[in-house]
Amino acid sequence: VPDVNRQIVLERLPQGDRLGPEHFRLTESARPTPGPGQALVRTRYISLDAANRAWMQGATYRSALNAGDVMAGGAVAEIVEAPDSDLKPGDLIWADTGWQDYALVPTKRLQKLPDVDQITHLISVYGVAGLTAYFGLLECGQPKPGETVVVSAAAGAVGSIVGQIAKIKGCRVVGVAGGAEKGRWLVDELGFDATIDYKAGGLRQQFKEVLPEGIDVYFDNTGGEIFEACLFAMKNHGRIACCGAVSQYDGAAPPHGPRGIPGLIVTKRLTLRGFVVMDFDDQRDQALKDLAGWVADGRLKVQEDIIDGLENTPAALIGLLAGENRGKRMIKVR
Ligand SMILES: NC(=O)c1ccc[n+]([C@@H]2O[C@H](COP(=O)([O-])OP(=O)(O)OC[C@H]3O[C@@H](n4cnc5c(N)ncnc54)[C@H](OP(=O)(O)O)[C@@H]3O)[C@@H](O)[C@H]2O)c1
Repeated sequence: VPDVNRQIVLERLPQGDRLGPEHFRLTESARPTPGPGQALVRTRYISLDAANRAWMQGATYRSALNAGDVMAGGAVAEIVEAPDSDLKPGDLIWADTGWQDYALVPTKRLQKLPDVDQITHLISVYGVAGLTAYFGLLECGQPKPGETVVVSAAAGAVGSIVGQIAKIKGCRVVGVAGGAEKGRWLVDELGFDATIDYKAGGLRQQFKEVLPEGIDVYFDNTGGEIFEACLFAMKNHGRIACCGAVSQYDGAAPPHGPRGIPGLIVTKRLTLRGFVVMDFDDQRDQALKDLAGWVADGRLKVQEDIIDGLENTPAALIGLLAGENRGKRMIKVR
């Protein structure tokens, strides 16, 4: 096992500017040794998440990041040593290892991951992305067959799974994504019924043309002007699953909140529900069973976007925020 631990440090936090390579620094240190209650793990695949950028804005559902720290992030990692636990070298676990080759993590909450055909599926469909899509849509959105579901960041990790589950549940599905090429892919490959290209302009007009009957369920990954356009297109008694606000993570603070709040919530009797994926931990087994069934019978296609090399992690996150990715982006560490 190599002794060097490559680490990507958050050199400084963006202050209203967009994330760039200058915010990170690659360093090397010695491979650490586990103390009591700690496991030494080697990262295999690091998950790149829109939330990585949100954590730089301040405290969210986790504490804020600080300049000088190893950049935080979840990964599938392999046990090297876990002295006081049942875990064996080579067992795979999920942990917030940060962007580095080796990490020390508390053994207390570590769980051996299930055996799967492809390790990367533990990050995409059977990881946070798949579970977020599943619980956000089914628990918060409550879609019924025949209803119209709209999802934003539709070609991303969470969005691409939301749309496919909504199709499995018998809904009409419209995805909002950037660019004509992503739109074609969603329709031709993933079976979406229609798409809206938010980068093409005329958002409200596109909504009127594609969604003349209105929206029953909106799965919101973006906030901002897409959220506003959906609010105006919601049917009475519609449901909005508030999953994230990627349009507001990178860059200057947005100029104002969406128009229509709270008036449209009242007159349309809307239900908005925010959630974080771990709220549903007690229902994970059923979710994983359902997801595996849909993957096995070919109704749920898993789209992954894998980039090689720990040193490319900053550029991969910057690119994700610019919409480079299709499906779940991750780093193969080495
Ligand atoms: N609540 C939870 O527990 C939970 C868990 C995981 C993720 N999330 C949320 O889920 C959302 C998706 O995250 P992800 O990690 O799966 O990332 P992702 O969707 O794979 O990647 C982010 C995508 O966002 C789109 N985007 C970037 N800037 C945008 C803008 N200004 N307006 C509209 N779209 C924009 C880009 O696609 P385009 O080409 O279409 O622009 C990009 O591909 C995020 O809001 C994240 O915070 C929530």
